[in-house]
Amino acid sequence: MTQDPPPTPVPDGAPAPRGAGRALRTPPARGSVTFCPDGPVLVRGDVDLRDEDGSAVEKPRPTVALCRCGGSAIKPWCDGTHKVNGYRSLD
Ligand code: FES
Repeated sequence: MTQDPPPTPVPDGAPAPRGAGRALRTPPARGSVTFCPDGPVLVRGDVDLRDEDGSAVEKPRPTVALCRCGGSAIKPWCDGTHKVNGYRSLD
């Protein structure tokens, strides 16, 4: 009998996706992209990230949060600013 792998921590400042439980926090066998309500885009697993010029962007860890509110001081990564700038993803 096999056990589920331990859940991957969500980056600081990144809210859990709506309805997130253990299943959504466990990295899939391949990459995935999750739009968090009123927050960042979580990129998990083996995903080829590219910047606007097409240059590869190295992920510092298996799961990263991409800013989509425009307020982060460390773009493209989320720094939690979406919590204080009033960003709403579903208006
Ligand atoms: S989405 Fe988190 S700082 Fe922009």
